[in-house]
Amino acid sequence: MARKIIIDTDPGQDDAVAILLALASPELDVLGVTAVAGNVPLELTAKNARIVCELAGRPDVKVFAGCDRPLARDLVTAEHVHGKTGLDGPVMADPTMPLQAEHGVDFIIETLRREPADSVTLCPLGPLTNIATAFERAPDVVSRVARIVLMGGAYFEVGNITPAAEFNIYVDPEAARVVFGSGVPLTVLPLDATHKALTTADRVAAFRDLGTEVGRMVAEWTDFFERFDKEKYGSAGAPLHDPCVIAWLLRPELFSGREINVEIEVDSPLTRGMTVADWWRVTDRPANALFIGDVDAGGFFDLLTERLARLG
Ligand code: RIB
Ligand code: CA
Repeated sequence: MARKIIIDTDPGQDDAVAILLALASPELDVLGVTAVAGNVPLELTAKNARIVCELAGRPDVKVFAGCDRPLARDLVTAEHVHGKTGLDGPVMADPTMPLQAEHGVDFIIETLRREPADSVTLCPLGPLTNIATAFERAPDVVSRVARIVLMGGAYFEVGNITPAAEFNIYVDPEAARVVFGSGVPLTVLPLDATHKALTTADRVAAFRDLGTEVGRMVAEWTDFFERFDKEKYGSAGAPLHDPCVIAWLLRPELFSGREINVEIEVDSPLTRGMTVADWWRVTDRPANALFIGDVDAGGFFDLLTERLARLG
């Protein structure tokens, strides 16, 4: 029985690879894709999500536009990382598949009410605005969520948008506080893990050598995407953050972490959006998240490349 998931996303080249990985994996049943404002404004994330579904040969996937701004803050975007379109790198044709008329938050609420309790996993890959809005608008659905597996936060790796905070949490810390405080079983893929899932020339060549449109696009996206991280961190390649969420669902044994308490800073301008992870359990605050600290990068890229090969 395939695991039912909703992907909530702000594509973003790494989001795009995560969506492709999910659509290439029969273990997962993607009930829908909800776009959120994040890397680029909502109009572009909703467009990019459809571009990726069509690239995967899946114009049947339901794509929804969700919230266009954080709960309580002005939107902060990341064109400096992802380019003006959010999918810079290759030239992309506009999508032809339609955007669903229903708001992404309403889709999340209605799906959770319709599907059996504990049968739907939420996979947020961007700011948590849509998830938090659904929980605040329909508290009855919170207990029906099987698990939330999200990309966000950082502890030992510290921040990538400020010295203290990772982008997804920084953009909407109030939403993150709602999600981390919801009591829903939570798996967190922070920068501590995703910064170990770095592309290398050989790994990008393996995408290109697939000889498919998908392989070419993923190679061109990572070529574009990695220039920011190489420059900033002097790292070998680009961290494929968001595909780690999908890979954890497929092969959790590639990852390791701890059930710990994670709180979100929302008051201090200096440390807004920081995920205060009690990795050493120095407080008596109850554990609320499986916080992933490590990944088998080779195994991750083998899985990713093998699955991408299944797409035309
Ligand atoms: O900080 C990395 C995260 O922010 C990734 O999800 C990337 O796509 C951006 O949304
Ligand atoms: Ca993202």
